Amino acid sequence: MNETTALTVLPRPFLKWAGGKTQLLQQYQPLFPPQFKNYYEPFLGGGAVFFYLFQEHSSGFKAVLSDVNEELINMYRCVQTDVEALIKELESHHRKHNPEYYYKIRAKKNRKPVKKAARIIYLNKTCFNGLYRENSKGEFNVPIGRYKNPTICNAELLRADSQALQWVKLEVRDFDKVLEEAKTDQDFVYFDPPYYPLSNTSQFTSYSRYNFKEEDQFRLRDVFAELASRGVKVMLSNSDCPFIRELYQEFPIHEVSAARSINSKGTHRGKISEVVVTSY
Ligand SMILES: C[S@@+](CC[C@H](N)C(=O)[O-])C[C@H]1O[C@@H](n2cnc3c(N)ncnc32)[C@H](O)[C@@H]1O
Repeated sequence: MNETTALTVLPRPFLKWAGGKTQLLQQYQPLFPPQFKNYYEPFLGGGAVFFYLFQEHSSGFKAVLSDVNEELINMYRCVQTDVEALIKELESHHRKHNPEYYYKIRAKKNRKPVKKAARIIYLNKTCFNGLYRENSKGEFNVPIGRYKNPTICNAELLRADSQALQWVKLEVRDFDKVLEEAKTDQDFVYFDPPYYPLSNTSQFTSYSRYNFKEEDQFRLRDVFAELASRGVKVMLSNSDCPFIRELYQEFPIHEVSAARSINSKGTHRGKISEVVVTSY
């Protein structure tokens, strides 16, 4: 991952993703382990933490990035291996963008990986609130947003991210598969699962047709504890609530403060406490 050419733009997330961690990176910085050789991010989403660590660790590390959402991983693979074709597709979407075109693309099923990837980025940049949401059939179902002039194709950023992803392994898989790979104290795993809801309506956990349930939070705690017992460095973000604090009571729990939507319509933002659990 060291052989990058000079970049004019630094790598960072190119998608708007619910639960994105960009605003928390400064608070996370002292909590990251100072050194590691292998990095695993099993709930990749927008990838804010990966792109940040990539910049910070000039000596490099190997990374395995995964998510259960196949559309998302297909898109990262296209950024990794076919970024110029992807940019062309996005420029074409940009030229044609209007409400009728949006709904036409939203209804479309593409087979070619680059077309699929461009469709998701286009919808993410133009849909209401930039929210990725699927119905029970796995269809993207968000209405068009009210942007005057959305940036559909940030070519320089896509190229910078493509370089950052060059040596990365990208996988569609459940988070527990990390147990097959992370085994030593040279491994660092960062878990950013869908958060445990603070109330029935307050939180957005439906990123895809695979909902994250309470039993998954228990399963994740067991994976965290197993990795910790192997000496793997593990870090996890979640909501600050009695359920999560009890689940991870044997580990150090740190508090961070995040600006989040505090009502169900997302129109009011306020500071809310979140936790970061570490195994070290
Ligand atoms: C909170 S988001 C990650 C946010 C990300 N760290 C960022 O900065 O944008 C959670 C992600 O977990 C994924 N996910 C949900 N259930 C999963 C599972 N069982 N295994 C792996 N990934 C899962 C979702 O598709 C979603 O992308």
